[in-house]
Amino acid sequence: DGQNVITLQRTPSTNEFLRKVLTKSTPLAEGTVIMAVDQYAGRGQKGAVWQSEPGKNLTFSLLLLPSFLDPKDQFSLTAAMSLAVAKWLSAMLKVPAKIKWPNDIYIGNKKIGGILIENILKGKTWKSAIVGIGINVNQTTFPDTIRDHATSIKQILHRDSKIPELLAELCSYIEREYIVLKSGDFKALLADYKQRLYRLGELHVFLVDDVEVTGMLTGVTETGRLQIDFNGHMVDFDIKEIAFVI
Ligand code: BTN
Repeated sequence: DGQNVITLQRTPSTNEFLRKVLTKSTPLAEGTVIMAVDQYAGRGQKGAVWQSEPGKNLTFSLLLLPSFLDPKDQFSLTAAMSLAVAKWLSAMLKVPAKIKWPNDIYIGNKKIGGILIENILKGKTWKSAIVGIGINVNQTTFPDTIRDHATSIKQILHRDSKIPELLAELCSYIEREYIVLKSGDFKALLADYKQRLYRLGELHVFLVDDVEVTGMLTGVTETGRLQIDFNGHMVDFDIKEIAFVI
C-alpha cells in the first residue's frame, strides 16, 4: 500500500538489497518497498543492465508474499505487475502503454520501463517475490546504445514529475491488480494482459536460435509462453528461446 517505503540514497540494485535483507532472515512485511535515489548497478532481464541517472528515475523493489499462488501460476504475477504499470502509465500519460512480452513497458516503439521479478521458492511453496520496477521519469538523454528505443515520462509530458508521488500512485495500481491475482481470476488477468501486448496481431521479426524469422504474434499461453503463428503453424516459446528484433 506504499506505506512501508525505505529510501536508499545509493545502492547497486534494490532487488539485490531486498534479497540480502531477506536472506539475513529479517522478517519484512509484505508490501515493503525499497527505493533508490541512485541505483548504480541496476539489473535487467536476461543478465542485462538497467541504467538510470542518479535522482532522475523511479527504481524500486516491492516485496510480495504470494503464498496463495501455485508456482505453476507464476506467470499471472508477471501479468498482474505488468498490467499495473501499463494501466498507470496509460492513465497518466493519456497515450496507450503496451507490454512487450514478457514485461517491458512501451510507449509507441520506445521502452519507458521494465520489470524484473525474482521468485524465491522453497520446494513447491512460495516464499517471496521481489518485484523490481524501473521507470524512466525525468531523464531525457540516454546512452547511445538505447537512445533510439528509450523514452521517459518527461519526454512525453515535457515537465518534471515528483518521484515519491509517482511511486504512491503506481503502488495503488499494483494493489488493485494484486487483489485480482488473489481472487484467482487468472483468466481475467491473462485476457487483460493479451489486450495490451505490444505488436499483437502484427507480423514481426524474431530471433530464434540466432536466426531471424517472421511471424505473427498471436498471444501468450497460460504459462506465459509467447505464441507465434508462422504461416498457420502455431509455435510457443519461453524467454530463453526467442527475442524480438527491435
Ligand atoms: C528489464 O527491463 O529488463 C527489467 C529492468 C528492471 C529494473 C529495475 S530498477 C529496480 C530493480 N532493481 C534492479 O536492479 N532492477 C530492477
